[in-house]
Amino acid sequence: MSFSIIVAIAKNRGIGKNNDLLYYIKDDLKRFKKITTGHNIIMGRNTFLSLPNGPLPNRKNIVITDNPEDCSLPDKYPDRECIMVDSIEKAIKQCNPNEENFIIGGGSIYKQFFPYADKLYLTIVHEEPDADIFFPDYNNKMWKEIWKEDHFEHKPPYSDLILERVGK
Ligand SMILES: NC(=O)c1ccc[n+]([C@@H]2O[C@H](COP(=O)([O-])OP(=O)(O)OC[C@H]3O[C@@H](n4cnc5c(N)ncnc54)[C@H](OP(=O)(O)O)[C@@H]3O)[C@@H](O)[C@H]2O)c1
Repeated sequence: MSFSIIVAIAKNRGIGKNNDLLYYIKDDLKRFKKITTGHNIIMGRNTFLSLPNGPLPNRKNIVITDNPEDCSLPDKYPDRECIMVDSIEKAIKQCNPNEENFIIGGGSIYKQFFPYADKLYLTIVHEEPDADIFFPDYNNKMWKEIWKEDHFEHKPPYSDLILERVGK
């Protein structure tokens, strides 16, 4: 079973504020779609409720919550695959053992899945914005950078990185 985390993170490790993203970078959203389409995506209730158009299409949406009734799906999304589970273990059982499964947030889910993750798809935005949700403090010695692309010309400047776990 392979778990990958995908996240956009500021220099201060901020990832969200007022249950919203800190940044909407068009090319980064495209990258997110390209990487996760066709895969299982795991998220917490807050992240699910922050999605503007319901469950993400062409992906199995696995939502972790103790309150599935709050996440009831509007009839307008009959084509979307979305299930609610009430624990990390049940979310893992829904995943495909032969595939890359993606953890897409938010803060509490990144934290709980961090020990399981063997790959990080990071978008690092080179700013220190106000945030109320943060990504775990990861130790760089545990991770090896296998890919990097800088977008310093963009406002705000950001870099895409892929890291692979080399230690626990
Ligand atoms: N920058 C990025 O890439 C990125 C990506 C995603 C999200 N975000 C941001 O992150 C923020 C949301 O993060 P968050 O930490 O507030 O919320 P979250 O992780 O999305 O969801 C938290 C909720 O998930 C449920 N949950 C978590 N662990 C559980 C467990 N073990 N068993 C059962 N239910 C569990 C609980 O819902 P119940 O109370 O219903 O039980 C909990 O209140 C937002 O600002 C969002 O925009 C950023």
